[in-house]
Amino acid sequence: MKPKTLLKLLLSGVALLTLVAAAAFLWISSRGISARAEPGRIETAVARTMRGLAVPRRDRTRKNPIAVTPEVLAAGMAHFADHCAACHANDGSGETAIGLGLYPKPPDMRLPATQSLTDGELFYIIENGVRLTGMPAWGDGTKESAEASWHLVHFIRKLPTLTPEELQQMQGMNPRSPDEVRQELEEQRFLEGGDAAPPKPSAPKHVHGR
Ligand code: HEC
Repeated sequence: MKPKTLLKLLLSGVALLTLVAAAAFLWISSRGISARAEPGRIETAVARTMRGLAVPRRDRTRKNPIAVTPEVLAAGMAHFADHCAACHANDGSGETAIGLGLYPKPPDMRLPATQSLTDGELFYIIENGVRLTGMPAWGDGTKESAEASWHLVHFIRKLPTLTPEELQQMQGMNPRSPDEVRQELEEQRFLEGGDAAPPKPSAPKHVHGR
């Protein structure tokens, strides 16, 4: 090939790339980068397939090694209410202020898309998290952490059939600020016939509460 032709080819390549980059920039800047948006069906399907493929085969086919007992489910429930409900909600719907503001959002874990994942896949996701999403890795490589994650796998299987009583029980296990605990104690004292009316919380109620 003549040097002149090569130069022409190179220049048109650069021009094409610049055009594509400019179009992509215009497309993104016209839509913004809001995390409030909902990923499209294709994006979700591709991301889930890629994530599935990223779980090593050996891990995917693992069965929960811990037998399900009331104690195991209770431990899973307490752990979920404490560490997971901020994003996933006590009922697994993902409808919390944080969950709804993430991109991608935590899925409704009661639905078949999550329930059809294998024990091994659920365990792997809990232990290792999901890159480029809000889902953190919880495992630290210890036996204790693995045990806690298997408890959570059992609890996730129970999400579709949680009773209103169990959900109420979980509300009592959700993390609370010292101010909220103080106010609850004061309210209890007031209701039991104490003198002082419950004080207002010292921090003003913030507007981001949903
Ligand atoms: C900071 C927010 C956040 C917290 C806290 C969190 N998660 Fe997640 N989780 C997410 C997001 C976002 C996704 C979706 C990831 C994706 O799209 O692949 C997710 C996905 C998952 C999935 C995969 C479900 C599916 O069908 O794709 C499981 C299982 C899961 N989380 C379990 C847990 C458990 C158990 C805990 C607590 C130990 C927890 N998560 C804590 C944000 C969170």
